[in-house]
Amino acid sequence: MRTHDQTVQQQFDPRAEAYRVSAVHAAGPDLVHAEALVRHAAARTDEALDVGCGAGHLAFTLAPHFGHTVALDPSPSMRAMVSAGALERNLRQIEVSAGQATSLPFDTGRFALVCTRYSAHHWTALEAALQEMGRVLRPGGHALIIDTLAGEDVLTDTYLQAMELLRDVSHVRNRSVGEWRSLLRAAGFAELEYRLWPTHLQFAAWVARMDTPAERIAAIRSLQNAAPREVRDTLAIEEDGSFSIRTALFWLRKAA
Ligand SMILES: C[S@@+](CC[C@H](N)C(=O)[O-])C[C@H]1O[C@@H](n2cnc3c(N)ncnc32)[C@H](O)[C@@H]1O
Repeated sequence: MRTHDQTVQQQFDPRAEAYRVSAVHAAGPDLVHAEALVRHAAARTDEALDVGCGAGHLAFTLAPHFGHTVALDPSPSMRAMVSAGALERNLRQIEVSAGQATSLPFDTGRFALVCTRYSAHHWTALEAALQEMGRVLRPGGHALIIDTLAGEDVLTDTYLQAMELLRDVSHVRNRSVGEWRSLLRAAGFAELEYRLWPTHLQFAAWVARMDTPAERIAAIRSLQNAAPREVRDTLAIEEDGSFSIRTALFWLRKAA
């Protein structure tokens, strides 16, 4: 029987190319905004860390503003994808590292920026991971958290988390804004800015990216068809199963 960490490996390791070309991951207003925030806060001598870097879209966006960027992921094929992408872009300041968010293999206070995008909803120990991200961040340093949010109300949330788990068994939870805020506060981060965007998930591409088995695709469609009007409206569920969720960005600072 597999552990959750093994499930994450099994889900992501064969899919590095799918995440490299994914329209949802390769671009987005969150990446544009993240770059604008970091441009004003970073110095060329600073170091940044991207936790759960996947195919590297956030690391590639932010690395030009730092002297050195570490892109960390447990998946060997994601790390290989980032190394190849960094070479292609001539981003020699990017280094890849194997690791888990809950035990970052770095000295305390090393980084000026610690960031993560579309990864935290796969982490079982989010509190411990945020503490760890705070540990490797220097006093006064910035954290940038981007992730998909929980459903806007409890019923929508139940449908959303069920659809997410059926599509990808490495899904743990999308958190609400309130949950995020108390977790971030408890980890010692002060919120400087919060942004929210709708993210449209085209159904065929969404399940293809994770190679969701046919019986689970059928279960998601069945669940969507059974959803009451208020859930269908909130998630903007379309005829083909496509729907919309919310992506949040938190821009934070660790006390100096
Ligand atoms: C959707 S991809 C990340 C997308 C990427 N950050 C981007 O901007 O395109 C999620 C990544 O999180 C990684 N991941 C999952 N659990 C993790 C954990 N506990 N610690 C670090 N990385 C993790 C997975 O291996 C996967 O590569």
